[in-house]
Amino acid sequence: MKDLLILGIESSCDETAAAVVRGGREVLSSAVISQIAQHRPYGGVVPEIASRGHVEAFPAVVSEAMANAGVGWDALDAIAVTHGPGLVSSLLVGLSGARALGQAVGKPVWGVNHMEGHLAGMFLDPATPPPEELCPALVLLVSGGHSYLVEMRGIGDYRLLGQTLDDAAGECLDKGANLLGLGYPGGPVIERAAEGGNPAYVRFPRGMEHAKAKKTENGLDLALCFSFSGLKTSLLQRLKTHPDDLPGHRPDLAAAYQEAVMESLAVRADRALKLTGAKTLACVGGVAKNRVLRAKLEAVSRRRRATLRLAPMAYCTDNAAMIAAAAGLRARAGLPNPPALEADPSLPLVEEAEDFPA
Ligand code: KG4
Ligand code: ZN
Repeated sequence: MKDLLILGIESSCDETAAAVVRGGREVLSSAVISQIAQHRPYGGVVPEIASRGHVEAFPAVVSEAMANAGVGWDALDAIAVTHGPGLVSSLLVGLSGARALGQAVGKPVWGVNHMEGHLAGMFLDPATPPPEELCPALVLLVSGGHSYLVEMRGIGDYRLLGQTLDDAAGECLDKGANLLGLGYPGGPVIERAAEGGNPAYVRFPRGMEHAKAKKTENGLDLALCFSFSGLKTSLLQRLKTHPDDLPGHRPDLAAAYQEAVMESLAVRADRALKLTGAKTLACVGGVAKNRVLRAKLEAVSRRRRATLRLAPMAYCTDNAAMIAAAAGLRARAGLPNPPALEADPSLPLVEEAEDFPA
């Protein structure tokens, strides 16, 4: 399959993005309009504001991506758009915009799974070997809506090893930041507030710390699953019982909270590397931007003699380059890209969890 030139479009949450990528790896342009400022007063994403924001931003990001790529519409092979998972009212804006564009310029419009997009993000680092050389890889996929440990056997061939049983890692940071009066989104503000703080100030619980060789209902090993809702409750308790902690100990609390989240993630990644013997550990998704997590995963990989591959900073949080990359990599691997027909807010990455031999 030749290297396709693809316009990617992403609107699953609160970022409106468009990008042009060749062959699933070479980014010609990437434009992102973030709505963080509009949602900040509410401490989280407000779906109605998000969909209106997408409608307003869509023409501008597409024009910017096409202009910066320096290619004409004729040169494109396809348009790839996120069709799930995400907020349905947000997904629909990107999907209908992409389909209208496709009709106007006479190009096919493909639907991309947002989570597969995050996985493709790691291949946007030119130093990362192509999927056929890199895989099998163990991937920690950590975003605002999902936390997965995935065994990536190749493009389109994913086995879910672990997932969160409640809140996602990013969601836990977002909720914690709210409790600490730090604003939104939580990950970056906690990271900034934690600088100079003492991560050992309080030992917040690491969810599922003592789980061993038990399985979830869908057959996943609990020792590879995450739980973050107890952490948020524990912070709330701490603030109630220690009213003097704020504002003076805010950096310490932020550092301790961040430490608990990142250590939970790193411990599971370590266990999964040990169990699978994988030689590559990758980390993608918004939380992969976190420097404490990056350092912990470096240490884990060194201990397990695995190579660490991280999505480039710009392609960790939501963007359209990863969406175009996913479609381009599927095409390169000879896999079909489905037509973008409907938005599916709960589109799964993997249909069924396979039994994992412990
Ligand atoms: O992948 P993403 O942009 O959107 C989803 O698909 O959910 O991830 C957004 C999440 C948010 O929860 C945000 O707090 C978190 O990524 N995040 C971070 C950092 N930057 C963004 N978490 C930790 N450290 C960061 N520097
Ligand atoms: Zn995302």
